[in-house]
Amino acid sequence: MARWTQILRMLFPVRRQPKQPDSERQIAPEDLKIPVHLAVFMDGNGRWATQRGLPRTAGHRAGAENLQNLCRMCGRYGIRYVTVYAFSTENWSRPAAEVEALMELFVEFFHRYDRELEKEGIRVRFSGERAGLPEPVLAVMAQAEQGSLHRKKLQLIIALNYGGRREIVHACRQLAGQVRDGTMQVDDIDEQALSGALYLPDVPDPDLMIRPSGELRLSNFLLWQSAYAELWFAHVLWPDFSDEHLAAALADYTRRDRRYGGLGKT
Ligand code: FPP
Repeated sequence: MARWTQILRMLFPVRRQPKQPDSERQIAPEDLKIPVHLAVFMDGNGRWATQRGLPRTAGHRAGAENLQNLCRMCGRYGIRYVTVYAFSTENWSRPAAEVEALMELFVEFFHRYDRELEKEGIRVRFSGERAGLPEPVLAVMAQAEQGSLHRKKLQLIIALNYGGRREIVHACRQLAGQVRDGTMQVDDIDEQALSGALYLPDVPDPDLMIRPSGELRLSNFLLWQSAYAELWFAHVLWPDFSDEHLAAALADYTRRDRRYGGLGKT
């Protein structure tokens, strides 16, 4: 380095801006990237209730109330599909009283909130196995689906008696049946064909999956569809998940470089 440059540097040191890590880059609301399909684990209801000395079912009730908030928030952001994990094929192993209370809550929720869902333009759909669900739940599901077909703003998909592995088995059986009937060749079975045989083939794969409660696993939720979903985890329990958490998840999602196995932007 020339001596004069060295002297000038000593006299007038250049103040460099510390480089802001990408994870802290501020995102203006108008620059948020909005996922088309958001999937949410409504997890942590039991712990939320236990922390307050309440029965676990009180946590599920608070979780159901928060589902209504989530729908409102998704509508505001212009998200088109939101899938929530309400009851897995494995949840039958919980105590009978908890399972029964959950089933009653599903029925109550739709009676109580249908008007609000209507006002918000929310179509309700279900994903999962209907077999094994109690009659009043099946009745309310049919009513909620039929009565909301015309609503266009947001699709609320409730994964009820849902298991990702069970769904893949269901799809395989569909395709095997078509091969047996001669309407499909074995060589025609590809990823697109399997996607087309899932419970809701018209619904795009989730872009972002949010799991509150501190657990870091997929728990059999949307196993096929989550192949390239962005995952977002937080320690908040589901009944306390708020607009701020969703805003933080969307900001993180905006900062992510979705490469789908390619080289992406960077
Ligand atoms: C998981 O938390 C949550 C569930 C198994 C039930 C989720 C259901 C609702 C929130 C009811 C509302 C749904 C509708 C469709 C009205 P957890 O009980 O496993 O919590 P924990 O891990 O703290 O025990």
